This record gives sequence, structure tokens and C-alpha cells, in this order.
Amino acid sequence: MFSPDFHPFKVEQFLSELEHGVKFNFSESGVHPMSFQGLVDLAEIDMPTLMETMIDYPQVNGKQSLRDTISGFYPGASSEGVMITVGATEANTLVASTLLEPGDNIVCFRPTYEQISGNAANRGNEVRWVDLIETNDWGVDTDALAKAVDEKTRIIHVVNPNNPTGRVLTAGDRAQIIAAAASVGAWIVADEVYAGTEREGDVETPSFWGTYDRVLIVNSMSKAYGLPGLRLGWLVGPEEIITQCWRRHEYASIASSMLSMELADKALAEPARSKLKIRAKALIRTGFDVLTEGLAQHPGVFSVVPPEASAMSFVGFDLPISSEDLCMRLLREKNLLLIPGSRFGVEGHFRFSSALPEDHLREGLVHLNALTADILQGR
Ligand SMILES: Cc1ncc(COP(=O)(O)O)c(C=O)c1O
Repeated sequence: MFSPDFHPFKVEQFLSELEHGVKFNFSESGVHPMSFQGLVDLAEIDMPTLMETMIDYPQVNGKQSLRDTISGFYPGASSEGVMITVGATEANTLVASTLLEPGDNIVCFRPTYEQISGNAANRGNEVRWVDLIETNDWGVDTDALAKAVDEKTRIIHVVNPNNPTGRVLTAGDRAQIIAAAASVGAWIVADEVYAGTEREGDVETPSFWGTYDRVLIVNSMSKAYGLPGLRLGWLVGPEEIITQCWRRHEYASIASSMLSMELADKALAEPARSKLKIRAKALIRTGFDVLTEGLAQHPGVFSVVPPEASAMSFVGFDLPISSEDLCMRLLREKNLLLIPGSRFGVEGHFRFSSALPEDHLREGLVHLNALTADILQGR
């Protein structure tokens, strides 16, 4: 079917084949999404005006007002240095095809969302993995980072806050990553889709923007804003590189949709933007507390480094079953979906998304605990 050299996107394949129609879908990475009506109310969108939107091809690199707003989030960025994409997904794919030449390598941290690494591998570029260390709260192995980087390193890829661990890089780790990139002139591609989903406090995860001259930022409406169905993301960087990505965007998708750009424009205008983030954080905070309570039903079986941000927890388990088999039993027997750690290259874990309506989450946790009891009793 595929060439043996093709690397499927293991996490997204698992989701797209299995998640539809699942009763307890705890496998997604964002907060519980909003309805269209919910967004209209929250952002006080004038419906008669919205209804006049022409269903035309939009401005290909993104609606001007939307790019103006987004450039304002990144001090010193111009609207020409912003391009609107079909989700962060398209942005990541464009970055890989724009920056990577044959013979280049890319350095990535594991576990991570293996999108840009998968694109790189499918282009024939070497992917160099640097482990994140669970016993160090999923911090960066900085010695391994220094060893992984060489003059052929074109990209150091960071997902900050991280998927699946929810870890936010420390100032020290960020400095090491910048130093490693600067030592060989590599680009830092920072996927910051989970910035703004901090679980404690109100300090937003600092952007890599402005920390080094070779930085590209990827972000989207999907996570902190809870609007994944808009399929709208963005790329921020030096104008010359953004223009190169734009040439590839014309091949990949032409543009994001007109209606999505209109709605994103409204959602990112204050006070809607702040209200969306407040909504996301409330779901994330309650959800994690409920998850912790649920996992405590089996002391010693589950362990989790509390995520500093995001709706997700990367939960370790001590059970005589692989992560793939555990997740498939949960799906078959309990109609509940989690993502096996193996899909992130780490056994003995699953990814659990808990920023969901509380009653639904509690009901699902009862089923997780019931199957756990069965496994502990050898059933
Ligand atoms: C780190 C990361 N980047 C990108 C994406 C894709 O986001 P989008 O819905 O904006 O395409 C995801 C989705 O899970 C993600 O976790």
C-alpha cells in the first residue's frame, strides 16, 4: 500500500481511525470545543453582518485584519511576516518542506507531537531524538541536545508547552536550546499551540519569538481557544521565509476558509480572546483535579507528573499490559478512548485529555477504574 519508507503519523492515524462515535473520548488534546452559537454569544458576533460574508476565495496568505491582529501578539513582527494556514498542521508541513534540504537533519524532543518529525522523515531527512526525562519532570536532557546538534542541523523543533506531557520549558532549557541552535545556525521551530492553557497562575508561557533571529512560530485556534473545527492556524517569522512558505501554501491548500478567517478575527479581538482563554483554563483546572481524584482510586498503579499547561496528562501505569492493548481493551469493553504511550514512543503510559464536562469525565473514570480492577485481578 505504502512505500516501506513512508512513516504514518501514528497518533493521528490512531485518532482518525478510532475516535468517531466513541462515548468517552478522552483522546483529544484540546479543551472541550465550543458550539458556533457559543462563539457567537461570547464574541458578540453580529449575525446579519456575518451572513453577508462572501463565500469567495479569501486572501491567500490570510485576511489582512487577522494578520494585523496576530502580528500584534509578537513584538516586532509585521503582518507580512504572518501567514494564515489550515491549522497548525499545515504550518508544520510547510515549514518542513520550506526549510529542509537533502542531507539536513532535524533535532526533536521525545515524547512529542511527531508531526514535523514525521514530515522530515518522509522527506528523507534524518530525525535526531533527544529524550525528555520523566524523573526530571520531563525536562530536557541538555547534554544529549548538545551532542545531537551539528553543522547539518537545520531545525530544532520544540513544542512548548509540550504535547503529551504538558510541561513548559524552564528558562534554563530555553537558553540551552537557543544556544544549541545558535552554535550551528539552525532554525528554532516553536509550536506554541498550548501557550495560554497554563494550569496554574496567570503567567503565559513565553514565546520563542524575539529570543533569536532564526525563529518560526506555529500556533492555531485549536487549543487555547477551543475552536479546532475552524481549521485555522498561523505561522510567524521573517518575511522572506514566510513568503517561501506562502509559495508552498498555494500548492497545499490555497487558503484557509473565508468563514474561518471571519470567525477567528472575531475570536481574537478583545475581550473575546481573553474570555476564550479563561474558559479553557477553567476546564483544564477542574478537569485535572477530577482526573487526579479518579486515578487515586488505585494507589500505586497510576502516576503523573502534573502538567503545567494543556488539557492533557501523560499518565504512567504499572499494569501487566502494553499501552496499546490497554487502550484497545478500554475501547472495546468500555467505549472509552485514550492514546497509548507507544504512539509517542514511550511504553507504560497513556495520554488522557481531561478538560471536559465534569460529569462526563467522572463517569468515564469509573469505567477506567473498573477495567483496571479487572486487569489487577487477572481478568
Ligand atoms: C503540538 C501540536 N501541534 C499542532 C497540532 C495540530 O493543530 P491544528 O488543529 O491547529 O492543526 C496539534 C494537535 O493536536 C498539536 O498537539
